[in-house]
Amino acid sequence: MKRTAGTVFPAFVILLGSLCAAGWAVAREPGRLDWFEDAKLGIFIHWGIYAVDGTVESWPIHSGEIPYEKYMSQRKGFTASAYDPNAWAKLFKEAGARYAVLTSKHHDGMALWDTKQGKLSMKKATPAKRDLIGPYCEALRAEGLRVGLYFSHLDWSHPDYATLRPEKATGELNKWDYADKGKEDPQAWQRFLKFHKAQILEIAEQFNPDLWWFDGDWTRNAEEWDMKTVRAVLEKHNPEAVFNSRMAGLGDYATPEQGIPSSRIEGPWEFCMTINDSWGWRPGDTNFKSARQIIRIFADCLGGGGNLLLDIGPKADGTIDEAYTSRLKALGRWVAKHQEAVYGTRVGLPAGHFYGGPTSLSRDSATVYLYCYDIPRDQVQVKGIRNTIQAVRVVGEGSSLTFRKMGGAAWINVPGILFIDVPECVNDPDLTVIAVDLEGKLDLYTGKGRD
Ligand code: GLC
Repeated sequence: MKRTAGTVFPAFVILLGSLCAAGWAVAREPGRLDWFEDAKLGIFIHWGIYAVDGTVESWPIHSGEIPYEKYMSQRKGFTASAYDPNAWAKLFKEAGARYAVLTSKHHDGMALWDTKQGKLSMKKATPAKRDLIGPYCEALRAEGLRVGLYFSHLDWSHPDYATLRPEKATGELNKWDYADKGKEDPQAWQRFLKFHKAQILEIAEQFNPDLWWFDGDWTRNAEEWDMKTVRAVLEKHNPEAVFNSRMAGLGDYATPEQGIPSSRIEGPWEFCMTINDSWGWRPGDTNFKSARQIIRIFADCLGGGGNLLLDIGPKADGTIDEAYTSRLKALGRWVAKHQEAVYGTRVGLPAGHFYGGPTSLSRDSATVYLYCYDIPRDQVQVKGIRNTIQAVRVVGEGSSLTFRKMGGAAWINVPGILFIDVPECVNDPDLTVIAVDLEGKLDLYTGKGRD
């Protein structure tokens, strides 16, 4: 069964909604997306010729900031001479990731695999002289990680790409994306679509990714891209494959980028974020988020029921700078300790129940996880839990905590506030997680009491 980002199955939702007292349990499509929704953490890898001079990935072509020829001449320095995909895969695993997504081709059109569609590949046009995708897929699979591949629909190097023009074009249309008025060439566009499909099929046949991470769909609509056919062909090739949203409305899950959503997203989603301000390797960009900030942001994703796709930009020789590796390892320390509050968790309590940070639920809804952003002063408090509390524990550390429900109005089934004592010694150096084990599935009071 298919669904597009943001849409859910109405009948399924109504059924689940009525089964669940508070009506906020997460509706889930059983099957194909399960591994993805349980995985929670992926590593995004932007690797391309832009790493040579440390320019922004592809975009300087479009903005005219760097002339096309000069930008593309970076390919002469792309060696991949120290590329060690096994070390990459081990690092990603150590970070706690369950999948990774590598740019097989960015908007600049440089393919990292040995494409038979033209000469723009790392194999044919750089000193790397080889396919870089196959070894990545093998290394990931050997570590038990799922394989994701990024692919840009739009291609600023292909002569047949900028040959259409939207009907109701207003304002300035960039020449890298659109033909001038009167210069449209539908036949050239058809040639481009043939090329586009042929490249995608090469990837499917050679690497069979578990996850397709498309990008650059925004310049055309689904019909112009012939996206239905693209999806159908890929589904036929691998009925289990997962698709991100950037398929002009025909994807599986939403991909908020760089700004973490502050309101709840319906359906599966994945937040993609850079560690500094750049997708690719840019030595001049030192605006790195700290490991602790990344962990907080990750907890925010968990609380909203989403994944984090955390980006790194390897250098042109394939090595990964210490600024990235140290942060991935620090994240991995936290994830390894707090596994039960990471993998397979579900969207947490609605806003207003816990003010210390995000919350999530275990798969069976019988444990509430409290991600404490700050070191609690004596106690933390949670509102609305009607269940009998079986135990309260510090995740990964093991201590049992004392707790007490105070107040409430038993005669109208309004629960008291749960106060939990948190001695300072149980705290994690980055972010403490408290597990509240319930008797039965969470029964949450969300009402307003009696007037
Ligand atoms: C944007 C940018 C692209 C980057 C992507 C990652 O779509 O165009 O450069 O690869 O975000 O999500």
